[in-house]
Amino acid sequence: MLQTLPRMISLEGGEGAGKSTVIALITKVLRELGESVVQTREPGGTPYAEDIRQLLLADHIEAPAKDVEVLLMFAARAQHVRKLILPSIAHGAWVVCDRFTDASFAYQGAARGIDLQKLELLNQQFVGVQPGLTLLLDVDVPVGLARVDARGDRDRIEKEPAAFFEAVRQGYLTRAQAEPERIRVIDANRDPQVVADEVREIVTAYAQRHLSA
Ligand SMILES: Nc1ncnc2c1ncn2[C@@H]1O[C@H](COP(=O)(O)OP(=O)(O)OP(=O)(O)O)[C@@H](O)[C@H]1O
Ligand SMILES: [Mg+2]
Repeated sequence: MLQTLPRMISLEGGEGAGKSTVIALITKVLRELGESVVQTREPGGTPYAEDIRQLLLADHIEAPAKDVEVLLMFAARAQHVRKLILPSIAHGAWVVCDRFTDASFAYQGAARGIDLQKLELLNQQFVGVQPGLTLLLDVDVPVGLARVDARGDRDRIEKEPAAFFEAVRQGYLTRAQAEPERIRVIDANRDPQVVADEVREIVTAYAQRHLSA
């Protein structure tokens, strides 16, 4: 069984969905409510885990085997949970995270074909926690990729073909269907201001229920 952390919010979605844009807004909304917030990301979030991120995302003369990519993702996550997420929650802060475990189910599971039971085993054994709220920014694949390309170079994973990202998207949507209470799907094809308004509304309503005393 995973422990749910009510004061942890994760952002999910494919490439160029707007996660990094929206995470700044969530942090702002929570701080306006007087809460302290640790904003972080995956893979990474601590110095050691950020080094693993480099290994995962940089071009390398040798690509990692699929299982090795999974193990490194979970190694980075295990470090992040132990060294940053749980200590921050223990100190009364909120944790807002750009990607978390749902990303492994979408990318390594749905898109790369790693057995979902294997991922669930790693999740139970080495992560053990899940956010109370996850916002899934759902964007049409070509729209998201065009945004990424307008921004600059693609990293190793961003160089996958469009079919890979279609599988990622479906993987995310399948998970959202299975856990509609935790995962809220937001149509991220729309104008940034419209997306921002919806995010603000959801996060404000959620936070009111979990404010510090
Ligand atoms: N709703 C939107 N409409 C149009 N452009 C957007 C929207 N949201 C974000 N953008 C722009 O698209 C680009 C990608 O957004 P952002 O970096 O927030 O996405 P991301 O999900 O974090 O991407 P990545 O998966 O690469 O980390 C940025 O240049 C951002 O300004
Ligand atoms: Mg981003």
